Amino acid sequence: MSNHNPIAIIDSGVGGLTVAREVMRQLPEESILYFGDNARCPYGSKTPEEIRTNTFQMIEFVSAFPIKALVVACNTATAVVLEEAKSILSYPVIGVIEPGARAAHGQTKSGRIGVIGTETTIRSGAYENAIKRINPGAFVFGLACPGFVPLVESNQLGSDEAREEVRRTLAPLLSYRLDTLILGCTHYPLLAPLIQETLGPTITLISSAEETARELAALSKKQAGRKFPSAPEHLFFTSGDAVTFQRIAEDWLRFPVRVERQSLEVL
Ligand code: SIN
Repeated sequence: MSNHNPIAIIDSGVGGLTVAREVMRQLPEESILYFGDNARCPYGSKTPEEIRTNTFQMIEFVSAFPIKALVVACNTATAVVLEEAKSILSYPVIGVIEPGARAAHGQTKSGRIGVIGTETTIRSGAYENAIKRINPGAFVFGLACPGFVPLVESNQLGSDEAREEVRRTLAPLLSYRLDTLILGCTHYPLLAPLIQETLGPTITLISSAEETARELAALSKKQAGRKFPSAPEHLFFTSGDAVTFQRIAEDWLRFPVRVERQSLEVL
């Protein structure tokens, strides 16, 4: 990561902005090339084959730029294609599941960890497997929250509907005496205040975004001779509506962003 080529971040929509914000915070000198596949979001309810096709179309798009690393910010895409992507791409590829599992392991005191994510992520067992590789004795309870991504994509973060949906969906978690909860979908950190309010202050929420950015930072530190001749430049692409994307991105990142619409179906 010794040059000013961008780090690519791909996601099914706006959720990966949580990772982008953390990368900007931890690696402020790095440029980011972001692709959000909002037109086909959510990925969580798609078949593995559809997720694979869509994700590799995003990879093909960002690979046309001189990128130096790729973050698959979507948990669902990470669960389905990370290993395959790692095996064929020539640059470093980072997913969000291993970093999130490591962070939860570092945080839990009781070893009782919850994971919330899309149906595909929870069904894949990817978080549970990653946690059990680190601590075979951990108790892991996974819960799919299919209603959360549409709330975030429609920017309803503080609405009464959002509060009600979060309360209703997370109710089953209350009886499991969990001390740590992984937000196993990049969209969920945007709902963190409502999730914390529902589950109470004794549960620690883990965002894969922070830990993933830390992994990138570690990768970056290993490289000698980093030179950044100019200020970072961030580029945002969406396959969906650029105005909606820009509104959510600017609310979350707190600076003006330029967004271009790019359809992937034509590739
Ligand atoms: C989705 O597109 O359904 C959610 C993205 C994720 O799993 O992080």
